[in-house]
Amino acid sequence: MPELLRPDVARHRAWLDCRDDYGRDAVQHGSGLRKDEDVDTLAGFTVYVDRMNRMADESIPLTEGLVHATYWWIADGDEIVGSISLRHRLNDFLLNAGGHIGYGIRPAARRRGLATWALREVLGHARVRGLDRALVTCDDTNTASARTIERNGGVLEDVRDTELGHTRRYWIDLTAA
Ligand SMILES: CC(C)(COP(=O)(O)OP(=O)(O)OC[C@H]1O[C@@H](n2cnc3c(N)ncnc32)[C@H](O)[C@@H]1OP(=O)(O)O)[C@@H](O)C(=O)NCCC(=O)NCCS
Repeated sequence: MPELLRPDVARHRAWLDCRDDYGRDAVQHGSGLRKDEDVDTLAGFTVYVDRMNRMADESIPLTEGLVHATYWWIADGDEIVGSISLRHRLNDFLLNAGGHIGYGIRPAARRRGLATWALREVLGHARVRGLDRALVTCDDTNTASARTIERNGGVLEDVRDTELGHTRRYWIDLTAA
């Protein structure tokens, strides 16, 4: 059974396996990882993990333009297979383009239903946080992500040109039982 884990330095080795599967310089959607961030050393990895966990703490003020967000790693047994994040609220950029939730699955673990499962779990967390609906977006050409959103009840509002390209914007109702 997959599970969602909060970032934890104890998973350094498993997290690096996941990173290596993506490739060193690849974008890992939903991970919050910055370009050129040192995650190979334990000290650097600890900085990354702490930053991700502090993003969820609403008592800690953030830099202008950022919103609080909760990050999870998607685990399957001992493996880290991806990441997913829930932004606690939308700012102008997120409402237009980025949405509430970002996610990615490592290449070797794709097409096993993991993104569909993880999005469903995080929608449950969004509901618990009091959100009535979640905005989830993807590039217009990203069939896999569009299907993931649609499998979770996403209703397409529009496809618009945004800072992220030609973007499909879906709303998911969280008020249904
Ligand atoms: C998008 C992504 C998260 C999907 O992860 P996944 O675990 O492979 O997705 P699932 O196995 O849950 O599949 C979801 C749906 O997409 C379909 N799908 C998955 N990969 C696909 C592909 N390459 N082409 C077409 N459909 C695909 C699946 O068949 C499934 O649809 P179905 O239920 O109708 O059969 C993954 O491909 C990924 O990480 N891509 C790169 C990062 C990214 O695009 N993140 C999203 C940013 S908005």
